Amino acid sequence: MEDKKIIFSGVQPSGILTIGNYLGALINWAKFQDENNCIFCVVDQHAITIKQVPAELRRRTYETLAIYIACGIDPEKCTLFVQSHVPAHAELAWILNCSTMFGELSRMTQFKDKSKRHHDNINAGLFTYPVLMAADILLYQTDLVPVGQDQQQHIELARDVAARFNQSYSETFKIPVGFIPKTGARVMSLQDPLKKMSKSDENVNGFVSLLDDKDTIMRKFRRAVTDSDTCVRRGEGKDGINNLMSIYSCFTGKTDEETEKEFDGRGYGEFKEAVGIACAEGLAPIQEKFKELMNDKAYLEGVMRKGAEEANRMARKTLSKVYRKVGFVGL
Ligand code: TYM
Repeated sequence: MEDKKIIFSGVQPSGILTIGNYLGALINWAKFQDENNCIFCVVDQHAITIKQVPAELRRRTYETLAIYIACGIDPEKCTLFVQSHVPAHAELAWILNCSTMFGELSRMTQFKDKSKRHHDNINAGLFTYPVLMAADILLYQTDLVPVGQDQQQHIELARDVAARFNQSYSETFKIPVGFIPKTGARVMSLQDPLKKMSKSDENVNGFVSLLDDKDTIMRKFRRAVTDSDTCVRRGEGKDGINNLMSIYSCFTGKTDEETEKEFDGRGYGEFKEAVGIACAEGLAPIQEKFKELMNDKAYLEGVMRKGAEEANRMARKTLSKVYRKVGFVGL
């Protein structure tokens, strides 16, 4: 019991999850659940930093939770909940805002990217988003945060803010560590392999959604941008092939050497076909389970309710400690 680690992570319900989310994050979450205390959150409060259609946000919140479970995350072993069901996240975020510097937030690359893409809606929430993320993590005295590469900077910030708070008010938060996988930490767009694969990409051929059917998956991989070489081998300037090799490795467990040998003397066409098949086969059981779960809203709501209760209990403990430390009057 004592040496069980606390694992926390989350995904925004801002679109159907992609194989980037799956290979960078979710696939690893399930691996932690037997030996640790795992807490996984659908971060709906984060999602509204970008304009959302309310009915779609609501539907995607159910879908994201269903995808967690369909990916093998067991609600009996883990705490699965929706962020807005646990008010302590927003409450702690306010306190941490007062321990986070404007300059630190200005350096966040995701803020810079998103404010370029959504220049008509550069709201304060988008700017302070990493503070809410720090609150998510720190509320649970988290040891380990399994995420993709793009979240590393946010985790660094959470660590800095926690250390600063501890220094000002005495030891309060555990300093969390990020867990970023060796392969799959940064799945790139199939159309522009210098750009991260994203569920909000307006070019649907750039990403493979976890719910794409086999034909769509095959078509997207066939169209994947590669280079003028013909040899299936990693290399500088071969970003498209490097990306496909990583995806292939994640779905098949094969090393790069094994893949190079397997496709020795065969062209890119055959390789793309094989990556498509491996991906479609990997996703088929997830899709089947997902459909089943989406037909049972009552079950999903039961999971949300149980998760919210557990998360509220844990989060309140940390929040009341924080309130005491900063000098708020308790009644
Ligand atoms: P989000 O919703 O953008 O992505 C969810 C998870 O998927 C990973 N990911 C990727 N990994 C590899 N390749 C990609 N192309 C790719 N795209 C996304 C992300 O790194 C992430 O792990 N801020 C977070 C959500 C969040 C959170 C948290 C995470 C809120 N609070 C607390 C951990 C702990 C986000 O926007 O992830």
